[in-house]
Amino acid sequence: MKRQFLFGLFAGLAVASVLRQTSKNALTQSRLDAYYKRRAENYNDTDLQINFFGRWPRLEMRDAAMRLADFKAGDKVLDFACGAGANFPYIMERIGPTGKLVAVDYSPEMLAAAQKVIDKQGWTNVELIQSDAATMQPGTDFDVVFCTLGLIVIPRYEQAMQQAWDALKPGGTYAIADICESDLWYARPIGWILNILDLFIITDSTRHPWEWLAARTQNYWRDSVFFGFFYAAVGKKPTV
Ligand SMILES: C[S@@+](CC[C@H](N)C(=O)[O-])C[C@H]1O[C@@H](n2cnc3c(N)ncnc32)[C@H](O)[C@@H]1O
Repeated sequence: MKRQFLFGLFAGLAVASVLRQTSKNALTQSRLDAYYKRRAENYNDTDLQINFFGRWPRLEMRDAAMRLADFKAGDKVLDFACGAGANFPYIMERIGPTGKLVAVDYSPEMLAAAQKVIDKQGWTNVELIQSDAATMQPGTDFDVVFCTLGLIVIPRYEQAMQQAWDALKPGGTYAIADICESDLWYARPIGWILNILDLFIITDSTRHPWEWLAARTQNYWRDSVFFGFFYAAVGKKPTV
């Protein structure tokens, strides 16, 4: 019995570690492009499709991100890896007609879906840019730079974080939110499910982008969302 248990444990750990590596290797821009091309039309419905016992984790994550980003009327905001514009209604409600939203994504199809959201609302202060976030040039002096569900996707995510950092004005707010591996003790045993999901939804949930943020910002804060499988984090760019 003891031998069987040890064998099971060892085999499980081996499979988990192969899965982790496989999902990292499978995260390529060409796979991402094909995936989001296919999903663009209905991508924003995903928020309401993922429901665990009456809770919507992606909406809880967005709520946490909006609260931490603390957008103000008139803010100039960068939303990178903006997708089909799922964040736009929340951001636009807060920054209003005097604000400006610049949104960057690699996928032309996701941007086309985002444009439909803009047209439907009649916003005239939203600019879409098609670019790899790792090399984007969205402008400067942003009050808030923001990314949800993008940093486990963008292949060169640390370069993307740096480009957004360069665009943020001193004293500005850097807010991110995403899926992650939960470090809550009772969630750990099912963490391997995320590694399997990574393969299908082309993500790398083993990344820790909040550490990049924590190392550079002042007043850093991180909220754990939905049993630790999502997070929202924020920090201010130092003024000196
Ligand atoms: C999971 S979706 C998130 C969309 C949106 N931020 C949201 O919260 O719904 C990830 C997005 O990252 C985009 N993406 C992938 N690689 C990228 C890159 N190198 N630069 C910019 N965006 C990229 C995809 O096209 C996709 O729209």
